[in-house]
Amino acid sequence: MVKALEAKDPYTKGHSERVAEYSVNIAKVLQLPDEQIEMIEFAALLHDIGKVGVPRKILSKPSVLTDNEYKRVVEHPMVGAYIIRQIDFLKRVSPAVFHHHEHYDGNGYGGGLVGELIPVQARILAVADAYDAITSVRPYRGAKNKKEALRELLACAGSQFDERIIRALIYSLGISFEDLIAEKEEEYFPEEEKVSVINLSEDIDFFQGKDDGNGGQNDE
Ligand SMILES: [Fe+2]
Repeated sequence: MVKALEAKDPYTKGHSERVAEYSVNIAKVLQLPDEQIEMIEFAALLHDIGKVGVPRKILSKPSVLTDNEYKRVVEHPMVGAYIIRQIDFLKRVSPAVFHHHEHYDGNGYGGGLVGELIPVQARILAVADAYDAITSVRPYRGAKNKKEALRELLACAGSQFDERIIRALIYSLGISFEDLIAEKEEEYFPEEEKVSVINLSEDIDFFQGKDDGNGGQNDE
């Protein structure tokens, strides 16, 4: 299924595998249960599978999408979750796929969820997906380096992304948080409280034993 999607949209080549790698690493840093890590890996590999239903010319369009084209793109998490639900052993993965474009502040799309109501797998996928997109070449721009990408994510902490998950990604990449903020502290951390050392043990405690927020139910 991943290969079918990659054949259609060459810019996603290798994307799903990289998102899976980042997602699994984040989940490991947060010490999520093995079963959840496995679900996250499947969800990451299949997160954009719903794009098989979106015309190629829309996926590779370098300019701004029309309202109708945008509507087709916005439907891909729902289409993907629907496809995945047809496959018995993947059913539990469908909420992560359905919600992977939710924003932490509720301004994303999928189900209009906000904050902790978004399944943790979907929150992880959102961060890993964005990180790979920023560090990859796209039709409309070049690739950014790791630190630039992480700073972009941090600038959207609390709005688009769950800040704890960005911290876990930073840790998994072996990058020092202090280095990251030292260079562009004022631009990215205008509020004093944002300049803090990563306290992963608190983040790990936060996620310990947490299920996907759906109690195993599919809520789409
Ligand atoms: Fe997507």
